[in-house]
Amino acid sequence: MRSEVLSAAAQKKIFLSPDALEMVLSNSHPMEFINTVLTTISANSMFVDKKDIMDCIAGDKIIFECPKTIAPKNKKNLDLKIMPGTDVTGESTCEGKINDFANFFKSRFYALKKLIESRRDFGHAMPIEKAIRLGRETKIIGMIYEKKDTKNGHVILKLEDDTGMCTVLISKDSPNIKEIFVTDEVIGVSGKSTSKGDLFIADEIFRPDIPKNNNWIASDSVSSVAFLSDVHVGSYTFLKNNWEKMIQWLKTNAYDSDIDYLVFPGDIVDGIGIFPGQEEELDILDIYKQYETLANYLKEIPDHIQIVIHPGNHDAVRLAEPQPALNEVFTKSFDSNIMMVSNPINIKVEGRTLLSYHGKSIDDWISGVQQLTYDDPIKVMEEMLKRRHLAPMYGQKTALAPEKKDYLVMENIPDIFVSGHVHGAGTGAYRGIKMINASAWQGQTEYQKMHNFNPDPAIMPIVHLGTGKMTMKNFNN
Ligand SMILES: [Fe+2]
Ligand SMILES: [Fe+2]
Repeated sequence: MRSEVLSAAAQKKIFLSPDALEMVLSNSHPMEFINTVLTTISANSMFVDKKDIMDCIAGDKIIFECPKTIAPKNKKNLDLKIMPGTDVTGESTCEGKINDFANFFKSRFYALKKLIESRRDFGHAMPIEKAIRLGRETKIIGMIYEKKDTKNGHVILKLEDDTGMCTVLISKDSPNIKEIFVTDEVIGVSGKSTSKGDLFIADEIFRPDIPKNNNWIASDSVSSVAFLSDVHVGSYTFLKNNWEKMIQWLKTNAYDSDIDYLVFPGDIVDGIGIFPGQEEELDILDIYKQYETLANYLKEIPDHIQIVIHPGNHDAVRLAEPQPALNEVFTKSFDSNIMMVSNPINIKVEGRTLLSYHGKSIDDWISGVQQLTYDDPIKVMEEMLKRRHLAPMYGQKTALAPEKKDYLVMENIPDIFVSGHVHGAGTGAYRGIKMINASAWQGQTEYQKMHNFNPDPAIMPIVHLGTGKMTMKNFNN
């Protein structure tokens, strides 16, 4: 920086004294400061000392008090990285063979078992095959193969580990009787097997969960991350006016409001052939043109903002999750500094862990669990966190690709967990984790009208990375 300041001065044939140089370097934006000084200082000055600078800026204190207003718009020190092992792009190995599925479920089981065994109140589990012969108090861990409610109000679970399967009884009098159980989630159970070994009577249920003492700890970060989910470019109901209002707002406010990161959690275009008769609801029928149109919209976003995009179920990439990043054939007109990543993805941004998942599995959670509804997607996200899994139910509407490891397991504890897909807008918190359902830029579709579903569009959620404060910036008016 020292040599850059000196050479900027030398180009104007001005030599800075050591105290003048120190003064310039002590400013938080030395280059902007020296350039302002050089354009203001008398044309016949050749040697400039600290007093000359003081005299020169005497009538213009704003340089010291508010250096940000003269800083260039693309020189922020951004700090965003993809967390290793969380992006499936280029790593996909599955061919859909039986063995792939066996390894995929094993990977899920071991990852979640490890999390349950790391709980201080659990310890080590006994293999199911051994536990059912033991006949005394013990703990087991297994994947739920089946759940049934009995006529008498009890719950029966078929639980499986790598040694065998057992039938777990949760009595109607148990405090766990009202809990939500879904197939293919992994749980720990303390209890005792009957003498015949045909039933394991549960005392307590343990989930991988988020530790109770997990918390948001404030940092000195001043930046914010904003989210634009479910843009659906190409749809007749894409909200162009609201979108343009939002872009104008970003142009005027993003820099000074320190909105430095922008994440798109999927469905960036409406796609083609997503559902029967979709073409009647499309404004742009060509998938390439949909992406090109979006690329042009994104060029309007201020340059200092780091953009991250991952696909959703409307995008032109395999439906099975994890979805790799969008292919270059669709994104060649996008600016090269936009990061294209997989769905889901873990991002480290200024020390915070951000988990972004489009949210297709929310459909399965809601159709499979009576207590969950489209009115409250945040509650669904909380259930995901408790199970440390984004889409446990195999064989439902959300296709899962049997990769070598299960990318839908939440191995890292996020600080921020965002999803979209259901076009709702909401925030919540669970054990220090900020949860966001990130709205949409598409109005009510025919399909939504038919199902009496009212979206919450044109809202941009913003999270401050230092304080964790969440703001829902509304562009409906
Ligand atoms: Fe969507
Ligand atoms: Fe979606």
